[in-house]
Amino acid sequence: MSFLESVHLVYAELEQYHRESASGEPPVVNQLPTREIIRELDLEALLKKGNLAGGAFAEFIRRYLSLTVRLHHPGSLAHQVAVPHPAAALATLVEGFTNNPMAIYEMGPAAASIEAFMIDWLLGKVGWKSPDAGGVLTHGGSLANLTALVAARSSSVPDAWKKGNSGELGLLASEDCHYSITRAAGIMGIGEENIYTYPAGASGLALEEGIGQALERSHSAGKRPFAVVANACSTAAGQFEPLREVAAVCRRHGLWLHVDGAHGASALLSQKHRGRLDGVELADSLTWDAHKLLRTPGLCTALLVRDARTLDAAFQQDASYLFHDKQQPGFDSIHRTVECTKAALGLRLFTVLAAMGEAGVVEYVDGLIEVTQKAYQAYCEIPGVACPVEPQSNILCFRVPGDDATQLRVRDRLLAEGDFHLSTAMVGGRRHLRIVVTSPATTLAHLRRLASRALELAGKNGSG
Ligand SMILES: Cc1ncc(COP(=O)(O)O)c(C=O)c1O
Repeated sequence: MSFLESVHLVYAELEQYHRESASGEPPVVNQLPTREIIRELDLEALLKKGNLAGGAFAEFIRRYLSLTVRLHHPGSLAHQVAVPHPAAALATLVEGFTNNPMAIYEMGPAAASIEAFMIDWLLGKVGWKSPDAGGVLTHGGSLANLTALVAARSSSVPDAWKKGNSGELGLLASEDCHYSITRAAGIMGIGEENIYTYPAGASGLALEEGIGQALERSHSAGKRPFAVVANACSTAAGQFEPLREVAAVCRRHGLWLHVDGAHGASALLSQKHRGRLDGVELADSLTWDAHKLLRTPGLCTALLVRDARTLDAAFQQDASYLFHDKQQPGFDSIHRTVECTKAALGLRLFTVLAAMGEAGVVEYVDGLIEVTQKAYQAYCEIPGVACPVEPQSNILCFRVPGDDATQLRVRDRLLAEGDFHLSTAMVGGRRHLRIVVTSPATTLAHLRRLASRALELAGKNGSG
């Protein structure tokens, strides 16, 4: 049997996997130690033998699937990872087979054209129009945040690329910003200590004062911040910042506003929820992950900018074999990214939208947020369960009786039981259990059962 002929065998394994996972019967997560997994999958023998194809290949995939985290499972609630739509999963197979790294147009014209199309579509959702505005797809929110900050720096200090940082550069960011922001500051040589934070959750005068004080602290330290990073929404508890207000403060101080919408920008698609990002069109740049809320396999992130020239000026490099004047019918996005070789990311998102229809995707996103909000209301009624904030997205944090260590112990027990996979996060200085609802199979009944079981495990009767 040829390798391609094994496709239908693998497809049958995937169908079975999907059915089982969505039924909630197998454990959502099965964490064997690495050594055992290597043994279980027979990696050494398969490697020596070679010629893995046909039934043997399907058997290997079956065993591999049994050791995965099942994202389609109703108890899969741990992380901000999309439950991939089968159409996009198939697209990644085609993408892997054709392997057209498309940051240079001539290396993947179809993929590059789909990316251009998707960027325009996403810009439209923000309220920006190409060619004034622009963007690029990149491998993840962390890389998009780094790229946005490189563009912001180049806009403020154009010669930093060639001459290096002057030593006085700083950044302002919400205290809840994702660690990729501090990581970008480290990579860019700005230094983590030169990020001045303002309180998350502030609005109105308190927000203005918070940003103003962060700015004063930076000036007293001899620093000159060039950008503000605001969350839409925060990673831990999924809370949005008042972007219109943040943007007004940024304009007053001449600061670049980068909105980290890696998780929450998908709310822009929903009439019900796009108000959470009110004012986003006033920002200078926006990170938007499709591999979090849009059922797109990882990775697929858009970095969008209000003024495309800022992104074009971000990376100022020569590479004679790639960058030269040429006549060509399409656009090279290589000037706008950290990556050189880049996957056909647009194809992944496009196939989800084309398969579900835009309305189907919106219904899915609205549904996730609705079930999360209903769970919050239900949890507020359960004695012993406490939620620190009302959810604004599909992320809900809660606590059961006991200290921080109890929350971690309860999570460990839940994972070991296999019905629920959830995470924890610090909110307001205390550890909370944290759920991120992404599976279309998750219902309010599952989330009620989770709270009851968590209470039982914390040593309290969960019948309330
Ligand atoms: C707000 C925020 N920004 C950035 C990231 C990083 O995104 P990625 O995992 O795609 O690199 C995350 C991931 O959880 C996030 O929540």
